[in-house]
This record gives sequence, C-alpha cells and structure tokens, in this order.
Amino acid sequence: MAPSRHFLMCRPEYFAVEYAINPWMDPQAGADAATAVRQWEGLRAAYEELGHRVSLIDPIDGLPDMVFAANGALVVGGRVYGARFANVERAAEGPAYLSWFTGNGYEPALAATHTNEGEGDFLTLDEVILAGTGFRTSVAAHQEAQEFLGRPVVTLRLVDPCYYHLDTALFPIDGRNVAYFPEAFSPGSQEVLRRMFPDAVLASAQDAAVLGLNAVSDGENVVINQEAADLALELKRRGLNVIPVDLSELRKAGGGPKCCTLEIRS
Ligand code: ARG
Repeated sequence: MAPSRHFLMCRPEYFAVEYAINPWMDPQAGADAATAVRQWEGLRAAYEELGHRVSLIDPIDGLPDMVFAANGALVVGGRVYGARFANVERAAEGPAYLSWFTGNGYEPALAATHTNEGEGDFLTLDEVILAGTGFRTSVAAHQEAQEFLGRPVVTLRLVDPCYYHLDTALFPIDGRNVAYFPEAFSPGSQEVLRRMFPDAVLASAQDAAVLGLNAVSDGENVVINQEAADLALELKRRGLNVIPVDLSELRKAGGGPKCCTLEIRS
C-alpha cells in the first residue's frame, strides 16, 4: 500500500455558482449543493478506502467555492504558506484556512504578501515545487514560497483561461513524474516540462476538458474524474490503479478531485 497521506477537505454545504471567475462558471446554469455534497462524499470515501487520513474544515455560508480546499494553502514540511486569493469573491477563504492551521497547531504559518491560490498553483514533487502563473498566482509568490519553504520553485506559465490553475493542467503521478496537457502552457514552459519530465504522460484536449488532469495520485492509486477515459487507460498501462470518481456538479465551478483536496505534508 502507498504511504498514507493527510488531506484537508471542506464539505460543499454552501456550494453554488453565484459568480464567474473562470470560464467554467455560469451563474445561470444552476448548481446543486446537495448533489455536490453527495459526489464529494464519494471522493472522501475513496481517500479513506485507500487508507488516507481526511481532516475537515467547516464550510462558511457565503463562500460557495470554499469546497476547493487545494486553494487554501501550501503545506510542505509542516510549514504553512497561506493563500491570498486573486478574486475578491474568495478573499475571505485565505484567513479562514490559515486560522484552521494555526488553530490545529501548525507552525510556522505565513499569511502571504503576494497573490497565490495555494495548491491550485503549487504542486510539490520530491525535489522541486512546480508553480503556475498567468491567471491567479503571481511570480512574486513563487519566490516568497521558495524562500519560506526552502524548496526550489519552478515557474510555469499558463496560457489558456480554462486551465487557470496549474492543477487543472498537470498532476504529479509520484514524486518524480507528472501528467499534463501541453497546450495549457506557454511554449517556453512546455520546453521546461519536456526537459524535466521526458517520460511524462501527455493528456489530450478531451481529457483536459473534463478536468482529467485535476487528479490526486499517491504514487500507486490515481483518483481521477471518471470521464477522462484515455488518460485513465494510459495510467493503467503504466501500472497505476485508477479510481474514477464523479464530480460533475463541482466541475460547474471549474473544480475536480484535486481542487477539493489540500495535502498536509508533515
Ligand atoms: N471556482 C473556483 C475558482 O475559480 C474553482 C477553484 C478550483 N480549484 C483548483 N484548485 N483548481 O477559483
């Protein structure tokens, strides 16, 4: 069995699509909190069946995107780099997540000076942290995180508004390799990814469009949106155990399994 992970999640009791801060969101389309909760419970159960530990932060009425816990912070080596949201609609989530961490004894916990959306744009590998910019997280935050965490941070530029967070276009398969959708990145960043990960899994536009890259892998098991068929096949071919989940309701806000999951790395 893969070593147990510790995840922070937020039940989507107040989930809704009330504003549009990414191209997936259509406030007219209608999103249902009860359906979102049911699907989210499936994700949580999948983690617990894999032996991972799930902690919960209380949802806050009026913060419909708070279910997307990945955005709340970046935690590496027990150090908590707090989020500072790009959009005013989500601004209150930053302090809410930070106070969960301080309230639960995590330190040091830093309230960031620079705009960053936590693990939405920071993905941690064994030797480096990959960091997205272009839509939400600033390059200054990449530097701030590097200084605070003492890990090398590699900036990657996102160019497609549908893939506004790094975790919508790339996921670590394990500590050394990734899967990604090349077209979501600038030409220079595509070249960086090719050099760093010659053996990466490259995803198709179809798999990216169902947020198939918003997956969570523990190195053996990959929890992934059920619609990402070709990507699932390729992961299986590489010996990974694929666990499909249905998060279609949360996709209406532009989120998938990874968005709902903040990893607490001790
Ligand atoms: N509606 C949310 C936003 O636009 C979705 C966040 C998804 N989270 C993620 N880690 N990609 O901010």
